[in-house]
Amino acid sequence: MGLAPQSVAPFPVPVEAGAEQQVRLADVVAALSAALDLTEGQPMGHAVRSCLIGMRIAEVLGLPEQERSDLYYALLLKDVGCSSNATRMCQILESDDLAAKRDVKLADWRDPSLSGIRYALRHFQPDAPLWRRIVGLLGMSLKKKALNKEMIGIRCERGATIVRKLGFSARVASAIHALDEHWDGNGFPDGLRHTQIPLHACILSVAQHMDVFTTASTPAEAYAVLKARSGKWFQPEVVRALKPLLADAALWRALSDGSAEEIVLQLEPGNKLPADPEQMDRLCEAFADIVDAKSTYTYRHSVGVTAVAVMIAEELGFTGARLTMVRRAALLHDIGKLGVPNTVLDKPGKLTEEQWALMRRHPEYTLSILERVPGLRAIARAASTHHEKLDGSGYPWGLRAIDLPLEARLLAVADIFQALTEDRPYRQPMPIERALAILAEDVPAKLDERCYQALVSALRRQRG
Ligand SMILES: [Fe+2]
Ligand SMILES: [Fe+2]
Repeated sequence: MGLAPQSVAPFPVPVEAGAEQQVRLADVVAALSAALDLTEGQPMGHAVRSCLIGMRIAEVLGLPEQERSDLYYALLLKDVGCSSNATRMCQILESDDLAAKRDVKLADWRDPSLSGIRYALRHFQPDAPLWRRIVGLLGMSLKKKALNKEMIGIRCERGATIVRKLGFSARVASAIHALDEHWDGNGFPDGLRHTQIPLHACILSVAQHMDVFTTASTPAEAYAVLKARSGKWFQPEVVRALKPLLADAALWRALSDGSAEEIVLQLEPGNKLPADPEQMDRLCEAFADIVDAKSTYTYRHSVGVTAVAVMIAEELGFTGARLTMVRRAALLHDIGKLGVPNTVLDKPGKLTEEQWALMRRHPEYTLSILERVPGLRAIARAASTHHEKLDGSGYPWGLRAIDLPLEARLLAVADIFQALTEDRPYRQPMPIERALAILAEDVPAKLDERCYQALVSALRRQRG
């Protein structure tokens, strides 16, 4: 199972008027990288910590400034394609994709090894009888290479496409595409070997494994594991560049005491310019796609909610910055779903108590990802309260009308309307009139009447 349910942290105090400020590209990318950590089953901060290690390796190797700038964003966005293979991984293993992805970085799954066998037994059909698991594992081992190529191919291809769309250089895209290649040619998806693998990809691979192993043990022990795989999995020169860093106690302290993000934000090479509006929109759109790609059940949900939310906002007379804010909040409202395993998201039947508790946590994750950026706090607030209701019966905080600004009320209406009318693999989309009748039952006690009426008028106008 994914992240264990625990008590809900209190909802933060409202954002004061005028508190929003210009945001830097690095701030937004670093915050959104925490969402990618969730998808990889890693504790939030994995991408940021890998970035810190990778940038220190670049220093030792003497990489020029422009190359370091590309490396910086490649390290933060290395897992940007990872949500796209979650459904497939869940189907193949018949188990929790987040736990399987977390442990795959620790296991030596490539060669027959104790850790590889342990990994397979832990994550392959954990609920099936032992005989079925053994037969299944034997069958899967015959197809192992093809399956690895397929799973890694999906994520690499998608990751490279996303960073290209975001306007990053070809070097960033190729580093992310070759993240899982191995120095001896036994990696995926293309089996590249030695200098065929871009240096940036070699640094990404060493940095991410060093972070994962350091989290599980000490830096010296982590280095010993990487050294043992040097020349097989990893580029030897990059592994050697780690050695002088072992004596840097401040570096390893920063990785464990939560200060890595602050340091990484200071490390951004080159221009420390604010993110321009188009870049911000592209980032929000890309992350909406990443959320939608995680589950085939909701593959157009975030973009659909955005279209409905913008329609309601325009009907209410929102323009300029206020309309932009609603659009971005709608795109990112379910970003916390990246922390929910696909065994829960893709389940066609009723959720168990435990699964429902995991599902109810996604707005909390949305808040903790977005509120990291001071300039995004109003978006964080509206986006994370889309399941709250005016009478306090919503989740996860049970907020009431007084705590819910119009933007949050609007998203709640848009989210339910979109969920009812979108196509799902297990049911037809609901007709618009039927969906509006269901919404009307909760107006005005739970859902805002102005937002509901705005939706009705906008739909009427749209349909002539
Ligand atoms: Fe949601
Ligand atoms: Fe939603």
